[in-house]
Amino acid sequence: MNIQGKVHYVGVNDRVKHRFEGLWLLPQGVSYNSYLIDDEKVALIDTVDVAFFTEYLDNIRAVIGDRPIDYLVINHMEPDHSGSIALIRKYYPGVRLVGNKKTFEMVEGFYGVPTGDDLVVAEGDSLPLGHHRLRFHLVPMLHWPETMVSYDETEHILFSGDAFGCFGALNGNVVDEQMDTAPYWPEMERYYAAILGKFSPMVKRALAKLGGLQIDMICSTHGPVWKKEVARAVGVYDRMSRGVTEPGVVVCYGSMYGNTQRVAEAVAAGAAEAGLRKVIVHNLSVSQPSFVLADIFRYSGLAIGGPTYNGGLFPVVEDLLRRLAGREVSGHKLAYFGGFTWASAACKTVAHYNEQMKMDLVADPVEWKQGAGAATLDAARAMGRRLAEAVLSAD
Ligand code: FEO
Repeated sequence: MNIQGKVHYVGVNDRVKHRFEGLWLLPQGVSYNSYLIDDEKVALIDTVDVAFFTEYLDNIRAVIGDRPIDYLVINHMEPDHSGSIALIRKYYPGVRLVGNKKTFEMVEGFYGVPTGDDLVVAEGDSLPLGHHRLRFHLVPMLHWPETMVSYDETEHILFSGDAFGCFGALNGNVVDEQMDTAPYWPEMERYYAAILGKFSPMVKRALAKLGGLQIDMICSTHGPVWKKEVARAVGVYDRMSRGVTEPGVVVCYGSMYGNTQRVAEAVAAGAAEAGLRKVIVHNLSVSQPSFVLADIFRYSGLAIGGPTYNGGLFPVVEDLLRRLAGREVSGHKLAYFGGFTWASAACKTVAHYNEQMKMDLVADPVEWKQGAGAATLDAARAMGRRLAEAVLSAD
């Protein structure tokens, strides 16, 4: 599929995989994007998951027929993009791999592909292809150590790797101006929260580094090619990397027999009473983590709670806290609650995680023994009000 001039899309859709990275649900699938520049020299940019190699090879041959590929540019080594490197080299034995020093350690480590006549590039190096000329910028830890982007100086196209990507397979068209992009924006936020949420400082650094470039098109490795919506796509990454939030409270809880659920409902009711329109409640035994994380990244208030369980915190609640402790969410307002039957541990565990999350605790925790009675529910409602007031007064 032609993208612009000599640049073609040769990627594939994955509508089979249930969880990306074995973790994150894919209700709308995902695309593995790869691009072919059919110039005097032929350059392939990134590959696809090896499970799709036959289709991928057909896509390549539909563009270049029997011509050889001169270069395979490797922006990122996670196997959803690097998985076909060994087979590309088998089918195109003359191809030169292009990557940075860290890339080639991984090429050998993952695939046993010996480094040979390869091209090791450093920051700012460029590669002439004929009409096009690619320039390479290293963006380490976005989100692996070897990550880099390739900038086409001729057509001002940024081949950005995972950056500016999103979940969601492509439905017929590839370029944003030819499709309804509405389903992809929430999937971009969910992708960021799940995959890049730990690396916001590196995203900020990368955005600063790329900020001076004229970018007319972004070709990422997942989701649509951004042409009409370049500024919006960059804006989403910019906003999320800076931790910019909207007024709202996300109430997250786990509950075995309904007591914690009643407390969570009271917190939500209190937040709504205070005049907050955006109140979202997640039962963590039901809601999937990437959707919960995306909501937490979007809204500025978090209320979280669960029962004590086996001398600690109810596992699904602790799982969310563990994920948050590894992400950049420190600007949030926090309130928490927890119950116990004979020995209290839930609230202490939330407090422990907040030493890493560094959220701003805006109310005393609500803790109760055994059944959540009227006094507990009143306290939870008051805590919800207090949290909403803190959120509203901060924004
Ligand atoms: Fe899409 Fe980090 O791989």
